Amino acid sequence: MRSRRTFLRIGAVGLVSFFAFIWNKLTLNHLEAVKQKSLTLPFNRNKEISFSDDYIIVTQNNTTTVYSAHCTHLGCKIDKLEGDHFVCPCHGSQYDLQGNVLKGPAYKNLKVVPSTISEEGNNITING
Ligand code: FES
Repeated sequence: MRSRRTFLRIGAVGLVSFFAFIWNKLTLNHLEAVKQKSLTLPFNRNKEISFSDDYIIVTQNNTTTVYSAHCTHLGCKIDKLEGDHFVCPCHGSQYDLQGNVLKGPAYKNLKVVPSTISEEGNNITING
């Protein structure tokens, strides 16, 4: 009887370990795929705001910053500027041009995404 219990415990531990291993593999592969997303887009330094794919590109005072266009509330895609602030179409959160929350329900600022502008200044590579 005791050996049967031991056998079941070892089997359970083995099964849990197996599923943990598979889960870890799937999750890490997904994260790697997300991390490696890189996008090069035409860039116009004279345009203050542009919406591209999942990003908002803001150029002010010769500084360009790329923000994720996904609202920090529930992830809706922000694709419009009203006056001097971005407005989420889902629940109305508002952000200023520096990505700071002006009005909820979102309470986190827009995420800054690393990017590099080509030497010629006509392309921007976004490393989302
Ligand atoms: S998803 Fe943007 S305010 Fe809710």
